[in-house]
Amino acid sequence: MSIIKLFVLPGDGIGPEVMAEVEKIVAWLNSEGVARFEIEKGLVGGAAFDAHGAAISEADMARAKAADAVLLAAVGGPKWDGVPYDVRPEAGLLRLRKDLALFANLRPAICYPALADASSLKREIVEGLDLMIVRELTGGVYFGEPKQIIDLGNGQKRAIDTQVYDTYEIERIGRVAFDLARKRRNKVTSSEKRNVMKSGLLWHEVISALHVREYPDVELEHQLADALGMQLVRRPKQFDVIVTDNLFGDMLSDVASMLTGSLGMLPSASLGEKDPASESRKALYEPVHGSAPDIAGKGMANPIAMIGSLAMALRYSFEMGELADRIERAISLVLEKGLRTADIAGGAKQILSTAQMGDAVLAELKAAHS
Ligand code: NAD
Ligand code: IPM
Ligand code: MN
Repeated sequence: MSIIKLFVLPGDGIGPEVMAEVEKIVAWLNSEGVARFEIEKGLVGGAAFDAHGAAISEADMARAKAADAVLLAAVGGPKWDGVPYDVRPEAGLLRLRKDLALFANLRPAICYPALADASSLKREIVEGLDLMIVRELTGGVYFGEPKQIIDLGNGQKRAIDTQVYDTYEIERIGRVAFDLARKRRNKVTSSEKRNVMKSGLLWHEVISALHVREYPDVELEHQLADALGMQLVRRPKQFDVIVTDNLFGDMLSDVASMLTGSLGMLPSASLGEKDPASESRKALYEPVHGSAPDIAGKGMANPIAMIGSLAMALRYSFEMGELADRIERAISLVLEKGLRTADIAGGAKQILSTAQMGDAVLAELKAAHS
């Protein structure tokens, strides 16, 4: 069995709390001989700023590049509100995504049956929900230049962000979405705002041409991003795969999280291009949520999004899909027993701490293994 090198970045706020639960699972997988993970730990975000004055050190960037996969929990928090923009905690995460060329962010939103009543929407709207948001992650307004604040000298300032997309960027994220749809329910919904944005026009044109050229067997529809936000809460089960840009994908995935019960439920995979020679690709696995400063240090964060991100790592980086299924099945069984963290308390028999939830998932994994 080959050794898998995981580079682990717990980050800030609830980050280290939820990452500790993943480390327990990894340790158990190692002890059972199911896999041989080697964990190296680093600093990102505010934790890195406090240690090195940068949102991630060059040494940790090199470790991230050398690893088989990176696991990152969350960055940011009010403690670093005043730090210079280029070394703010979020800059560490953005640099990882950009420098590792992780252009495809897969954000699945699945409503576990036991949580249909934990959603803020009615049971019948979310029950059985299984959609995948494919978010472009290395382009758009996040990285477009110019990006600056100019002092106009008359007591006024001008802030500029620039949305930029090239054909190849839209094509490659489109392919990820169409390929995923073929393994799911064969439907892609592409979303932009072509009624306002030139990048939306190009997005629509490129996705439509790609569809005709390479994926005529997949159903394609287009929805403007504002309307899609509405449809997500109106009738979310109409969606299979949603493909959209960096900023819309960020917002729409936070909206989608509430269909599953909580932001604490949503895992994600940030993937680079597959190297044709080795068949491997750079990848970072991160929950959709942030550092949750309002509950940090209280031991009440939901670790399921982080544990689900480990499952995605097994599935997308290590061809261990069966083990990923087992982890997701363990999560489902815990929820069916009414064991919940506070954010998904609806219908709970017992409210668990972060560590108790991690232990409960591990106990189900162990029970299924013996
Ligand atoms: P957030 O996602 O941290 O929190 C939003 C709300 O969801 C909070 O009420 C929080 O308590 C709750 N929540 C989030 N994760 C939870 C979990 N696992 N269990 C239970 N409840 C959970 O968003 P925010 O408060 O807007 O941002 C806080 C900081 O996190 C900011 O600095 C932001 O930039 C950063 N952030 C980082 C990431 C990341 O590292 N990937 C993602 C989003 C936000
Ligand atoms: C996310 C986060 C990040 C983003 C921030 C922390 C840079 O909100 O991963 O969803 O905007 O991409
Ligand atoms: Mn976000």
